[in-house]
Order: sequence, then structure tokens, then C-alpha cells
Amino acid sequence: MSKIYLGTNLKMFKGYQETLEYIKRVNEITQNISSDIQVFVIPSFLTISEAIEKTQQKNCWIGSQNMASIAEGAYTGEISPKQLKEIGVTINELGHSERRQFFGETDQELAKKVKASVDFKMRPLLCVGENALEKDSNASSATVLRQLQIGLAKLTVEELKNVMIAYEPVWAIGENGVPAEPTYVEEIHQVMRDCLMTLAGEIGQEIPLLYGGSVNLANYQELLSKKNVDGLFIGRTAWEIEKFKEIILFANKNYV
Ligand code: PGA
Repeated sequence: MSKIYLGTNLKMFKGYQETLEYIKRVNEITQNISSDIQVFVIPSFLTISEAIEKTQQKNCWIGSQNMASIAEGAYTGEISPKQLKEIGVTINELGHSERRQFFGETDQELAKKVKASVDFKMRPLLCVGENALEKDSNASSATVLRQLQIGLAKLTVEELKNVMIAYEPVWAIGENGVPAEPTYVEEIHQVMRDCLMTLAGEIGQEIPLLYGGSVNLANYQELLSKKNVDGLFIGRTAWEIEKFKEIILFANKNYV
């Protein structure tokens, strides 16, 4: 059984103290879990440094929600891979649908960020997923493949070993989201797996594929049971620490 990845992106929710309190609880929960369960929390930039100090990074990685693609320069308001590496960030979430939708991130720009993350010895977590129109037009696989192929285009086969992918259909995310059916998720994950194996041979088999989008206490077990689902990237449900705890402990009991 390979590793299970369970992570959450706190987006622009939770204040400074609240985030640190949350991280403290996650640390307590992950203290005694197997190393086969990899938990990660991606808080706002403000708290990353202190969160890392308070965290045993082995049990719980701390990540960034975005990152510039350039090491340094005159880019007001940006945060660079070099700066994130210096403070001990492990994982960079790149291309969440909210970044693509509200901040105009393109596949081409994301390819540079993915490369920068690998160059600075962090792990890019590339988020992909079709929107409702693309789904209704039977273009889900084509959309996801395009995002994957362009997003990973700058990496060598060897570098692909460091990548993680989150499949997050836009129509499944957030308050108005409808969770994707686990069978549908598996179908798309299989398409992604085939693509990764074409790009990287056997290494493609090892690249973790996470699902995200309205994961909740009623669907997480079935999602985790799917062959090509290597983990979950959870929003609202995980922000309630007791619910995140249930999911982590379930995985620890059943998947190690
Ligand atoms: P959600 O968020 O679980 O609250 O739908 C998922 C995400 O945006 O990653």
C-alpha cells in the first residue's frame, strides 16, 4: 500500500491565532500516526513561518497557497520560491481554480511555477479540473489533460518524481459545489494516470493523485477506496478539526 495524502488549504479563512491553534491540534492528531499517512496544511502566508516552527514537519507538511515563478526581482506583492524554501516550506499549491479564475493564472505561467518549485527542492501540488461548461460539453478529460501536460511540460522525467496532482473539478468546490461521484473521480484519475505514465513511464505510477471538491464525512471513505485516489485535498470539512481528525484516523487505521 502506498502513502495516503490528506491535506487542507485554509484559503483566506482563519485569523492568525486561530490558524496557529488549528495547526497545534493537527500536530496533536498526527503525533502518533504512521509515516504512510502524510498530512499537510496550507495556511495563509502570514502564518507559514510560525506554523513551521510549531510543526513536526515529518508528520505534517506546511505549504504555500501560491508562489511566484521567479527567485527574486522587482515584483511588488509577490513571494518567491527562494523565500519560501528559506523558511522551510515543503509543498507549493499551484493553480487552484480560484487562482485560475480570479487571478488569471494560465497553464503557461503555472508551468514556470511548477518548475521553480522543483528547482528549489519543494513539491509542487498542481491543481487541475474542468468547469461546469467543460463538463457539460464532454470536455472534462481534454481539459484536465491540457492542464496536466502544459503544467508539467518543463520537468524532466526524473523531476516528475517530486510532483503531486490534485484533481478538483470547479463545479465541485465550495459552498455551491456538488461533490463528484467517486466513480467519476476514478475515471478522471485513470485518464490522468495514463497521461503521467506516458510522460514518465513507471514514475507516473508513483505520482500522488488527490481528489478535492466538497469532500465530506459521507463520501471520503468511498473516495479513498478508489484505486487511483492516493489522497484527499479537503476544504471546509477539514477546517473543522474534529472532522479532519476523523478522516486522518480512519486512513491511519485502514490504509497502513
Ligand atoms: P471544499 O474546497 O472542500 O470546501 O469544496 C476544496 C478546495 O477548494 O480545495
